[in-house]
Amino acid sequence: MASTSVHKIGILTGGGDCPGLNAVIRAAVKAAILQYGWKVVGIEDGFEGLLLPGKVRPLLFDHVKDILDRGGTILGSSNRANPFEYKFKVDGKIVSEDRSPILLDNLKHNEIDALIVIGGDGTLSIAYKLYTLGVNVVGVPKTIDNDLASTDITFGFDTAVNTATWAIDKIRTTGESHHRVMVVEVMGRYAGWIALQAGIASGADIILIPEIPFRFERICHVIRERVSTGRHHSIIVVAEGAKPEGGDMVVKKIVDDSADPIRLGGIGEVLANKIQSELGIESRSTVLGHVQRGGSPSAFDRILSTRLGVGAVRLIGEGKFGRMVCLRTPRIDSVPLEDAVKQLKKVSPDIDMVQAARAIGVCFGD
Ligand code: F6P
Repeated sequence: MASTSVHKIGILTGGGDCPGLNAVIRAAVKAAILQYGWKVVGIEDGFEGLLLPGKVRPLLFDHVKDILDRGGTILGSSNRANPFEYKFKVDGKIVSEDRSPILLDNLKHNEIDALIVIGGDGTLSIAYKLYTLGVNVVGVPKTIDNDLASTDITFGFDTAVNTATWAIDKIRTTGESHHRVMVVEVMGRYAGWIALQAGIASGADIILIPEIPFRFERICHVIRERVSTGRHHSIIVVAEGAKPEGGDMVVKKIVDDSADPIRLGGIGEVLANKIQSELGIESRSTVLGHVQRGGSPSAFDRILSTRLGVGAVRLIGEGKFGRMVCLRTPRIDSVPLEDAVKQLKKVSPDIDMVQAARAIGVCFGD
Protein backbone atom coordinates (compact mmCIF):
# COMPACT_ATOMS: atom_id res chain seq x y z
CA MET A 1 0.00 0.00 0.00
CA ALA A 2 1.35 3.47 -0.81
CA SER A 3 1.70 5.88 2.08
CA THR A 4 -0.88 8.25 0.55
CA SER A 5 -3.64 5.72 1.27
CA VAL A 6 -2.96 5.75 5.02
CA HIS A 7 -5.41 7.88 6.97
CA LYS A 8 -5.62 6.09 10.26
CA ILE A 9 -3.11 3.95 12.15
CA GLY A 10 -3.55 1.68 15.15
CA ILE A 11 -1.05 1.02 17.95
CA LEU A 12 -0.94 -1.97 20.27
CA THR A 13 1.44 -3.27 22.94
CA GLY A 14 1.72 -7.05 23.36
CA GLY A 15 3.55 -9.53 25.59
CA GLY A 16 5.20 -8.65 28.89
CA ASP A 17 5.37 -4.93 29.54
CA CYS A 18 8.56 -2.95 30.06
CA PRO A 19 9.58 0.61 30.84
CA GLY A 20 9.46 2.82 27.75
CA LEU A 21 6.27 1.51 26.13
CA ASN A 22 4.43 4.75 26.86
CA ALA A 23 7.30 6.76 25.45
CA VAL A 24 7.00 4.83 22.15
CA ILE A 25 3.22 5.35 22.07
CA ARG A 26 3.65 9.07 22.76
CA ALA A 27 6.27 9.50 20.06
CA ALA A 28 4.29 7.54 17.47
CA VAL A 29 1.08 9.48 18.16
CA LYS A 30 2.84 12.84 18.01
CA ALA A 31 4.81 12.03 14.86
CA ALA A 32 1.75 10.55 13.11
CA ILE A 33 -0.29 13.69 13.78
CA LEU A 34 2.44 16.30 13.30
CA GLN A 35 4.31 14.78 10.36
CA TYR A 36 1.49 13.10 8.45
CA GLY A 37 -1.85 14.35 9.77
CA TRP A 38 -3.06 10.78 10.37
CA LYS A 39 -5.65 9.73 12.89
CA VAL A 40 -4.38 7.36 15.56
CA VAL A 41 -6.27 4.77 17.57
CA GLY A 42 -5.02 2.74 20.50
CA ILE A 43 -5.88 -0.94 20.76
CA GLU A 44 -6.23 -2.20 24.31
CA ASP A 45 -4.59 -5.32 25.74
CA GLY A 46 -2.53 -6.41 22.77
CA PHE A 47 -4.18 -8.44 20.02
CA GLU A 48 -7.10 -9.12 22.34
CA GLY A 49 -8.22 -5.57 21.57
CA LEU A 50 -8.86 -6.62 17.98
CA LEU A 51 -10.69 -9.80 18.94
CA LEU A 52 -13.14 -8.39 21.48
CA PRO A 53 -15.51 -5.46 21.05
CA GLY A 54 -15.03 -1.99 22.55
CA LYS A 55 -11.26 -2.05 22.86
CA VAL A 56 -10.25 0.43 20.18
CA ARG A 57 -10.11 4.09 21.17
CA PRO A 58 -8.82 7.34 19.68
CA LEU A 59 -5.37 8.53 20.68
CA LEU A 60 -5.06 12.30 20.55
CA PHE A 61 -2.32 14.63 21.71
CA ASP A 62 -4.06 15.00 25.05
CA HIS A 63 -4.05 11.26 25.65
CA VAL A 64 -0.28 11.04 25.44
CA LYS A 65 0.66 14.06 27.49
CA ASP A 66 2.50 13.32 30.73
CA ILE A 67 3.20 9.67 29.87
CA LEU A 68 6.83 9.92 28.75
CA ASP A 69 8.13 9.02 32.20
CA ARG A 70 5.39 6.56 33.14
CA GLY A 71 6.08 2.82 33.38
CA GLY A 72 3.72 0.17 31.99
CA THR A 73 1.52 0.88 28.99
CA ILE A 74 -1.56 3.09 28.84
CA LEU A 75 -2.96 0.58 26.32
CA GLY A 76 -2.61 -2.51 28.50
CA SER A 77 -0.93 -5.68 27.30
CA SER A 78 -1.58 -9.40 27.07
CA ASN A 79 0.44 -12.48 26.20
CA ARG A 80 -2.63 -14.68 26.12
CA ALA A 81 -4.23 -13.48 22.91
CA ASN A 82 -2.57 -15.07 19.92
CA PRO A 83 -5.27 -14.64 17.25
CA PHE A 84 -3.98 -17.66 15.34
CA GLU A 85 -4.22 -19.93 18.38
CA TYR A 86 -6.74 -18.21 20.61
CA LYS A 87 -7.02 -20.28 23.78
CA PHE A 88 -10.16 -20.66 25.87
CA LYS A 89 -11.72 -23.19 28.21
CA VAL A 90 -14.42 -25.67 27.25
CA ASP A 91 -15.62 -27.95 30.07
CA GLY A 92 -12.51 -27.09 32.05
CA LYS A 93 -10.19 -28.06 29.18
CA ILE A 94 -8.09 -25.53 27.26
CA VAL A 95 -8.77 -25.55 23.51
CA SER A 96 -7.55 -23.18 20.80
CA GLU A 97 -8.86 -21.87 17.51
CA ASP A 98 -7.81 -19.51 14.73
CA ARG A 99 -9.55 -16.19 15.31
CA SER A 100 -7.50 -14.17 12.85
CA PRO A 101 -10.56 -13.64 10.58
CA ILE A 102 -12.22 -11.72 13.45
CA LEU A 103 -9.11 -9.60 13.81
CA LEU A 104 -9.02 -8.79 10.09
CA ASP A 105 -12.72 -7.82 10.18
CA ASN A 106 -12.10 -5.58 13.15
CA LEU A 107 -9.25 -3.78 11.39
CA LYS A 108 -11.58 -3.10 8.47
CA HIS A 109 -14.47 -2.10 10.69
CA ASN A 110 -12.26 0.42 12.52
CA GLU A 111 -10.78 1.64 9.22
CA ILE A 112 -7.25 1.01 10.44
CA ASP A 113 -4.93 1.29 7.44
CA ALA A 114 -1.71 0.36 9.22
CA LEU A 115 -0.74 -1.14 12.55
CA ILE A 116 2.20 -0.46 14.86
CA VAL A 117 2.86 -3.55 16.96
CA ILE A 118 5.15 -3.04 19.94
CA GLY A 119 6.32 -6.35 21.35
CA GLY A 120 8.91 -9.05 21.89
CA ASP A 121 9.55 -12.18 19.83
CA GLY A 122 6.10 -13.73 20.42
CA THR A 123 4.12 -10.60 19.59
CA LEU A 124 6.29 -9.79 16.58
CA SER A 125 5.90 -13.34 15.22
CA ILE A 126 2.13 -12.77 15.23
CA ALA A 127 2.70 -9.39 13.57
CA TYR A 128 4.66 -11.12 10.81
CA LYS A 129 1.87 -13.67 10.25
CA LEU A 130 -0.63 -10.81 9.95
CA TYR A 131 1.62 -9.15 7.41
CA THR A 132 1.59 -12.32 5.29
CA LEU A 133 -2.21 -12.05 5.34
CA GLY A 134 -2.00 -8.56 3.87
CA VAL A 135 -2.09 -6.38 7.01
CA ASN A 136 0.10 -3.27 6.86
CA VAL A 137 2.16 -3.94 9.95
CA VAL A 138 5.35 -2.45 11.33
CA GLY A 139 7.01 -3.70 14.51
CA VAL A 140 8.84 -2.08 17.41
CA PRO A 141 11.06 -4.37 19.54
CA LYS A 142 10.66 -4.30 23.32
CA THR A 143 11.83 -6.50 26.16
CA ILE A 144 13.81 -6.05 29.32
CA ASP A 145 15.66 -9.26 28.34
CA ASN A 146 17.50 -7.57 25.43
CA ASP A 147 17.43 -10.91 23.61
CA LEU A 148 16.42 -9.84 20.10
CA ALA A 149 19.30 -10.34 17.68
CA SER A 150 18.24 -7.82 15.07
CA THR A 151 18.57 -4.71 17.20
CA ASP A 152 21.60 -3.49 19.13
CA ILE A 153 19.50 -3.00 22.22
CA THR A 154 15.82 -3.18 23.20
CA PHE A 155 14.22 -0.39 25.21
CA GLY A 156 13.35 -1.38 28.77
CA PHE A 157 16.63 -3.20 29.22
CA ASP A 158 18.59 -0.21 30.46
CA THR A 159 15.94 0.59 33.06
CA ALA A 160 15.82 -3.04 34.20
CA VAL A 161 19.61 -3.09 34.62
CA ASN A 162 19.49 0.18 36.59
CA THR A 163 16.73 -1.15 38.83
CA ALA A 164 18.55 -4.42 39.46
CA THR A 165 21.80 -2.56 40.18
CA TRP A 166 20.03 -0.28 42.64
CA ALA A 167 18.54 -3.30 44.43
CA ILE A 168 21.81 -5.26 44.55
CA ASP A 169 23.61 -2.23 46.03
CA LYS A 170 21.16 -2.33 48.91
CA ILE A 171 21.39 -6.10 49.31
CA ARG A 172 25.16 -5.79 49.54
CA THR A 173 25.03 -3.61 52.64
CA THR A 174 22.85 -6.00 54.61
CA GLY A 175 24.94 -8.95 53.36
CA GLU A 176 28.04 -7.19 54.68
CA SER A 177 26.52 -6.57 58.10
CA HIS A 178 25.57 -10.22 58.59
CA HIS A 179 28.52 -11.85 56.84
CA ARG A 180 26.16 -13.64 54.51
CA VAL A 181 26.13 -14.96 51.00
CA MET A 182 23.44 -12.99 49.21
CA VAL A 183 22.04 -14.56 46.06
CA VAL A 184 20.05 -12.21 43.82
CA GLU A 185 17.94 -13.75 41.06
CA VAL A 186 17.20 -11.51 38.10
CA MET A 187 15.01 -11.93 35.02
CA GLY A 188 16.14 -12.40 31.42
CA ARG A 189 14.54 -15.66 30.35
CA TYR A 190 17.10 -17.65 28.33
CA ALA A 191 19.60 -14.78 28.05
CA GLY A 192 21.98 -13.51 30.69
CA TRP A 193 22.15 -9.84 29.71
CA ILE A 194 20.48 -8.42 32.81
CA ALA A 195 22.52 -10.60 35.17
CA LEU A 196 25.77 -9.79 33.36
CA GLN A 197 25.31 -6.04 33.26
CA ALA A 198 23.65 -5.58 36.65
CA GLY A 199 26.28 -7.92 38.10
CA ILE A 200 29.15 -5.86 36.74
CA ALA A 201 27.50 -2.56 37.67
CA SER A 202 26.92 -3.66 41.26
CA GLY A 203 30.33 -5.27 41.77
CA ALA A 204 29.00 -8.84 42.12
CA ASP A 205 31.53 -11.50 43.05
CA ILE A 206 29.86 -14.28 41.09
CA ILE A 207 27.64 -13.91 38.03
CA LEU A 208 25.73 -16.92 36.73
CA ILE A 209 24.14 -16.79 33.29
CA PRO A 210 22.40 -19.38 31.07
CA GLU A 211 25.14 -19.13 28.44
CA ILE A 212 27.87 -20.28 30.86
CA PRO A 213 26.71 -23.36 32.79
CA PHE A 214 28.11 -23.32 36.32
CA ARG A 215 29.76 -25.89 38.61
CA PHE A 216 28.58 -25.74 42.19
CA GLU A 217 32.02 -26.74 43.53
CA ARG A 218 33.55 -23.74 41.75
CA ILE A 219 31.09 -21.35 43.42
CA CYS A 220 31.89 -22.87 46.83
CA HIS A 221 35.61 -22.63 46.14
CA VAL A 222 35.35 -18.89 45.37
CA ILE A 223 33.27 -18.20 48.49
CA ARG A 224 35.71 -20.17 50.67
CA GLU A 225 38.63 -18.22 49.23
CA ARG A 226 36.89 -14.95 49.92
CA VAL A 227 36.28 -15.96 53.54
CA SER A 228 39.90 -17.06 53.97
CA THR A 229 41.05 -13.60 52.90
CA GLY A 230 38.70 -11.78 55.26
CA ARG A 231 35.81 -11.12 52.90
CA HIS A 232 32.93 -12.60 54.82
CA HIS A 233 30.11 -11.66 52.51
CA SER A 234 29.59 -12.52 48.88
CA ILE A 235 27.17 -11.33 46.23
CA ILE A 236 25.96 -13.79 43.62
CA VAL A 237 23.83 -12.45 40.77
CA VAL A 238 22.06 -15.31 39.04
CA ALA A 239 19.94 -15.14 35.91
CA GLU A 240 16.63 -16.97 36.23
CA GLY A 241 17.70 -19.17 33.30
CA ALA A 242 21.12 -20.13 34.70
CA LYS A 243 21.79 -23.85 34.96
CA PRO A 244 24.52 -26.20 36.23
CA GLU A 245 26.78 -28.05 33.83
CA GLY A 246 24.84 -31.04 32.56
CA GLY A 247 21.72 -29.86 34.41
CA ASP A 248 18.50 -28.02 33.69
CA MET A 249 17.01 -24.61 34.33
CA VAL A 250 14.68 -24.31 37.31
CA VAL A 251 11.09 -24.06 36.09
CA LYS A 252 8.67 -22.46 38.50
CA LYS A 253 5.49 -23.27 36.63
CA ILE A 254 4.12 -24.41 33.29
CA VAL A 255 1.27 -22.15 32.24
CA ASP A 256 -0.81 -23.87 29.56
CA ASP A 257 -2.81 -20.92 28.30
CA SER A 258 0.11 -18.52 27.84
CA ALA A 259 2.12 -17.86 24.70
CA ASP A 260 5.16 -18.31 26.91
CA PRO A 261 4.23 -21.46 28.89
CA ILE A 262 7.52 -21.93 30.74
CA ARG A 263 7.81 -19.64 33.75
CA LEU A 264 11.37 -19.72 35.05
CA GLY A 265 12.33 -19.01 38.64
CA GLY A 266 13.74 -20.53 41.79
CA ILE A 267 17.41 -21.04 40.98
CA GLY A 268 18.39 -18.35 43.53
CA GLU A 269 16.70 -20.19 46.40
CA VAL A 270 18.16 -23.54 45.30
CA LEU A 271 21.66 -22.06 45.30
CA ALA A 272 21.33 -20.22 48.62
CA ASN A 273 20.13 -23.40 50.35
CA LYS A 274 22.90 -25.52 48.84
CA ILE A 275 25.60 -23.00 49.73
CA GLN A 276 24.39 -22.77 53.32
CA SER A 277 24.34 -26.53 53.81
CA GLU A 278 27.66 -27.10 52.02
CA LEU A 279 29.66 -24.22 53.56
CA GLY A 280 27.76 -23.52 56.76
CA ILE A 281 27.65 -19.83 55.85
CA GLU A 282 24.31 -18.10 56.28
CA SER A 283 22.87 -17.49 52.85
CA ARG A 284 19.78 -15.66 51.62
CA SER A 285 18.14 -15.31 48.26
CA THR A 286 16.14 -12.42 46.82
CA VAL A 287 14.11 -12.65 43.64
CA LEU A 288 13.88 -9.20 42.07
CA GLY A 289 11.07 -10.34 39.77
CA HIS A 290 8.69 -7.84 38.25
CA VAL A 291 10.30 -4.89 40.01
CA GLN A 292 12.63 -4.99 37.01
CA ARG A 293 9.74 -4.53 34.60
CA GLY A 294 8.08 -1.60 36.34
CA GLY A 295 8.69 2.05 37.04
CA SER A 296 9.82 5.06 35.16
CA PRO A 297 12.10 4.45 32.14
CA SER A 298 15.69 5.66 32.32
CA ALA A 299 16.72 8.65 30.20
CA PHE A 300 18.39 6.22 27.78
CA ASP A 301 15.18 4.21 27.36
CA ARG A 302 13.04 7.36 26.95
CA ILE A 303 15.27 8.54 24.14
CA LEU A 304 15.50 5.12 22.44
CA SER A 305 11.71 4.65 22.73
CA THR A 306 11.08 8.07 21.23
CA ARG A 307 13.39 7.36 18.30
CA LEU A 308 11.80 3.95 17.68
CA GLY A 309 8.25 5.36 17.85
CA VAL A 310 9.13 8.03 15.30
CA GLY A 311 10.96 5.41 13.21
CA ALA A 312 7.86 3.17 13.12
CA VAL A 313 5.71 6.05 11.87
CA ARG A 314 8.35 6.85 9.25
CA LEU A 315 8.26 3.23 8.02
CA ILE A 316 4.50 3.51 7.53
CA GLY A 317 4.94 6.85 5.79
CA GLU A 318 7.40 5.22 3.40
CA GLY A 319 5.07 2.25 2.83
CA LYS A 320 7.70 -0.14 4.24
CA PHE A 321 5.42 -2.71 5.82
CA GLY A 322 6.38 -6.08 7.27
CA ARG A 323 9.44 -4.48 8.85
CA MET A 324 10.63 -3.83 12.40
CA VAL A 325 12.46 -0.68 13.45
CA CYS A 326 15.75 -1.37 15.17
CA LEU A 327 18.79 0.36 16.57
CA ARG A 328 21.90 0.05 14.43
CA THR A 329 24.05 2.42 16.39
CA PRO A 330 24.14 5.32 15.70
CA ARG A 331 20.99 5.27 13.60
CA ILE A 332 17.49 3.87 13.63
CA ASP A 333 17.15 1.31 10.85
CA SER A 334 14.74 -1.47 10.00
CA VAL A 335 14.78 -5.21 9.26
CA PRO A 336 12.15 -7.55 7.79
CA LEU A 337 9.87 -8.81 10.59
CA GLU A 338 10.51 -12.33 9.36
CA ASP A 339 14.22 -12.06 10.18
CA ALA A 340 13.67 -9.97 13.29
CA VAL A 341 12.20 -12.82 15.29
CA LYS A 342 14.29 -15.68 13.94
CA GLN A 343 17.24 -15.48 16.23
CA LEU A 344 17.63 -14.82 19.93
CA LYS A 345 20.58 -12.74 21.06
CA LYS A 346 22.46 -14.56 23.79
CA VAL A 347 25.57 -13.54 25.68
CA SER A 348 28.56 -14.92 23.88
CA PRO A 349 31.00 -16.13 26.59
CA ASP A 350 33.96 -14.49 24.83
CA ILE A 351 32.60 -10.94 24.50
CA ASP A 352 34.61 -8.10 25.91
CA MET A 353 32.15 -7.49 28.74
CA VAL A 354 32.57 -11.03 30.08
CA GLN A 355 36.33 -10.83 29.66
CA ALA A 356 36.47 -7.51 31.50
CA ALA A 357 34.50 -8.99 34.38
CA ARG A 358 36.78 -12.03 34.51
CA ALA A 359 39.82 -9.73 34.43
CA ILE A 360 38.71 -8.08 37.67
CA GLY A 361 38.11 -11.41 39.37
CA VAL A 362 34.41 -12.02 38.77
CA CYS A 363 33.63 -15.74 38.72
CA PHE A 364 31.11 -17.10 36.22
CA GLY A 365 30.90 -20.45 37.96
CA ASP A 366 32.85 -22.28 35.23
O1 F6P B 1 10.43 -11.51 28.77
C1 F6P B 1 10.35 -10.61 29.83
C2 F6P B 1 10.17 -11.33 31.13
O2 F6P B 1 10.13 -10.38 32.17
C3 F6P B 1 11.25 -12.39 31.43
O3 F6P B 1 12.45 -11.83 31.85
C4 F6P B 1 10.53 -13.24 32.43
O4 F6P B 1 11.02 -14.55 32.41
C5 F6P B 1 9.11 -13.21 31.97
O5 F6P B 1 8.96 -12.05 31.16
C6 F6P B 1 8.09 -13.15 33.06
O6 F6P B 1 6.83 -13.20 32.49
P1 F6P B 1 5.47 -12.98 33.27
O7 F6P B 1 5.25 -11.50 33.41
O8 F6P B 1 4.47 -13.63 32.41
O9 F6P B 1 5.62 -13.63 34.61
